[in-house]
This record gives sequence, C-alpha cells and structure tokens, in this order.
Amino acid sequence: MTDPRSIADVDPVVANLIEAETGRQQSGIQLIASENFASRAVMEASGSVFTNKYAEGYPGRRYYEGCQITDQVEQLAIDRAKELFSAEHANVQPHSGSQANMAAYFAVLEAGDTIMGMSLDHGGHLTHGSHVSFSGTLFNFVSYGLNPETELIEMDEVRRLALEHRPKMIIAGYSAYSRHLDYEAFRAIADEIDAILLVDAAHFIGLVAGKAMPNPMVYADIVTATTHKAMRGPRGGMILSTEEHAKAINKAVFPGYQGGAIFSQIAGKAVAFLEAMTPEYQEYAAQIIRNAQTLAGTLQDGGLRVVSGGTDNHLMLLDLRSLDEELTGKEAAVILDEVGITLNRNAIPNDPRPPFVTSGLRIGTPSVTTAGMREGEMERLGALILDTLTRRADDEALKEVADGVAELVAAFPPYPADFPGHV
Ligand SMILES: Cc1ncc(COP(=O)(O)O)c(C=O)c1O
Repeated sequence: MTDPRSIADVDPVVANLIEAETGRQQSGIQLIASENFASRAVMEASGSVFTNKYAEGYPGRRYYEGCQITDQVEQLAIDRAKELFSAEHANVQPHSGSQANMAAYFAVLEAGDTIMGMSLDHGGHLTHGSHVSFSGTLFNFVSYGLNPETELIEMDEVRRLALEHRPKMIIAGYSAYSRHLDYEAFRAIADEIDAILLVDAAHFIGLVAGKAMPNPMVYADIVTATTHKAMRGPRGGMILSTEEHAKAINKAVFPGYQGGAIFSQIAGKAVAFLEAMTPEYQEYAAQIIRNAQTLAGTLQDGGLRVVSGGTDNHLMLLDLRSLDEELTGKEAAVILDEVGITLNRNAIPNDPRPPFVTSGLRIGTPSVTTAGMREGEMERLGALILDTLTRRADDEALKEVADGVAELVAAFPPYPADFPGHV
C-alpha cells in the first residue's frame, strides 16, 4: 500500500516550504501577469491519482493497458477545449507553453525554415526566436517590432518583412504587449505569402475563453496556449488547430517531443475548461480588463508612462524613466516586493538597459481579479505603487504603504479560510 502519511509527517521540510509559499501568496498582492490562483477543483484534479497513470498515445490508441478512464478524462478535456474555442482540433497534452510551441513548429515546418515572430525586446516570447531558446537555434527567425512612436505593431511593416523574407510561418502573440492584435491583417499577410498563421495565445487565452477578447481560432491555422495564466487552470499547455493540421500536431506532440502526458494536469485542464464555460467566468474575464484599464489610468494620472498609452488586455508595461531617470526595473521590483506588491521587471521597447536591469515593470491583473478586487481597489493599488516608487527613500512612507497593502490583502484574500493548506 502507498504510504498514507501526510506530507507534514513524511517530509516536514517540503511541508514547511509549501506552508511558507501559501503564506507568501496570501500576504502580498500578486501582480505577475502570467500568474493566477487556480480553484480548489482544479488543484484537486491536478493533485489526483491521475498522476500515477501512464498513458502514451491518444484516447483509444494507447501503448499501455488500463487507460479506459484516462481516455475519458483526456477526451473530455479535448471536447471542452474544442467547444470553448470553436476549434476543429485540440491537443491537451503539451506539458507547457514552450512545449506546445515546439511541437506546433515541428508539426508543420522543418528545422532551418524561416519563421516570423515578435522580437523578444518588444514583447515576444523566448520561443519566438530568441537565440538562447530552441526556437532561435533550430529555426531561422525574422522579427518584427513596434513602431517607435506609437509602440504598436505596425501591420505595414509586418507585411513588408513578410514579403521580403517569405517566412513559412507567421506568429502573432506576445508575453508583454497590451494591445489587440489585428488578426485579419495577419491572416491576409499569411495568405499573401502562403504562410501558416500561428497565434500564441499563452497569455490571453483565458480572456478569449471568457469572451472578453476576439477568438484567434477564427483566423489562425494553429493556436498555442498555456492553461495556467489568465486561463486560471493547472500549469500546462495546449494546441488548437484546424482539422488540416490535426494529425501532424498530434504526431509532433507524441511521439515527437513528449513521452507520456501528465494526466493529473489534463484532468485539471478539463475542470478549468468547464469553469470557463460559466457566466461567472465571463464576468471574471471582463473584470480583468476593466481592472487593468483602471490601474493603468491611475498610474498614468500619477505621472507614470504606460507603454502605448494604455491597455486592451490584462497587462501593462510601465516606463519608469517617466518618474525618475535613475530608477531601474530591477530596483523598483525589489522595493515593491518588500512592501508586499509582487511583479516583474520588464524591458520596455528600445530599452537602453540590459534585460536583467531594465527600465520597466510589467503588471497583470488576473490574480487580483480572482481575489475579488475591482476598480476601487485598483485605484487604491495604483496609489500604493506610486507612493512606493516616488517615496522609496522614506522608510516611514514605505511602512505606510506596507500597511495599506496588508489592509487590501486582508479584505481580498486569494484563498478562503477553509481552503486546504490555508495558513
Ligand atoms: C507568449 C508565450 N508563449 C509561450 C510561453 C511559454 O510558456 P511556459 O512557461 O509554460 O513554457 C509563455 C510564457 O510566459 C508566453 O508568454
């Protein structure tokens, strides 16, 4: 029989670390744009006995016996994903967003082929061609950036580059860009050069699920995504596509780039997709954007420049030089963390500082929205951020901010008191 003792009895060191992390998440305001608080139901599924089952292959075609139930849970996740995103095909096995991208690229391309994506410096992801990622070493990437004046993607420039380099795939999608993507224009450019259009919706697929953003599947051949960011599911990835690419995508995921899928995560994905089909989730998705816009407006009113002048989604980029030329993203993120506001430093477009220092911050509202905060709290939070940054040399002021953060957190705890592991 498996050891029935609790983690506290078996491994108090890790048990203490889990408790400490729960305490950390509960005692501060979490503004990292790629994080969220999954529901108890999602966490129960992803911590379930499915972790003990091996099932290479796909429902009905496994290399192991005893897969009758795993088949059902994977099929459920697939069916729900297809319904939620009006997709002809869904693969829910990728372990993460990066794996989803890797499999999607190799499903339809060969090593050395040309891909066009958004440059990392202007908001793209590592897997969109960075030389330190598999993407930049195995493929020939051409990058498009932002217009230096508007800080927006300029579709004429995307088209010019596409016609010049004739990539076999165009990627639309980002990790740090706060504006709508012009899917129609991307589609038209891809059609003009007979390229595949892949939308990397890792960051915003939850807003699509909640119908607060247009569905990229209407335009794209392939949509890759993560399930743990705005989506609020378990940590993982997925690929949606047209039927045309279904076989190639399945083959690329398994046996191409992964072995057995993580079925506890797939069970969690199924639960998250069901949760996303509710009116409450749609309200949640719309509130994420309202919160981001209110927070951006408050920060702008306080003199902080928001890149591109605002946000249409769940995130924003702040240019700290507008407050103080000397203030770096690194310093600002550390001071904010000390008063209980956790976010990440982020390069702003054409940032003169190196990526480990930066001149910017990235803020996202999915987590605070899950905690129940609304526009009023965003105004309060904006004031606390501004106070921290402008009065950072004043210990008394920082103490006041920390008290303000503690008050907000106490009123909007991320986990209810009866949540397993609550401290
Ligand atoms: C646009 C985009 N694609 C892919 C990924 C990769 O996701 P993961 O960290 O799960 O590999 C991310 C993660 O930040 C992302 O922002």
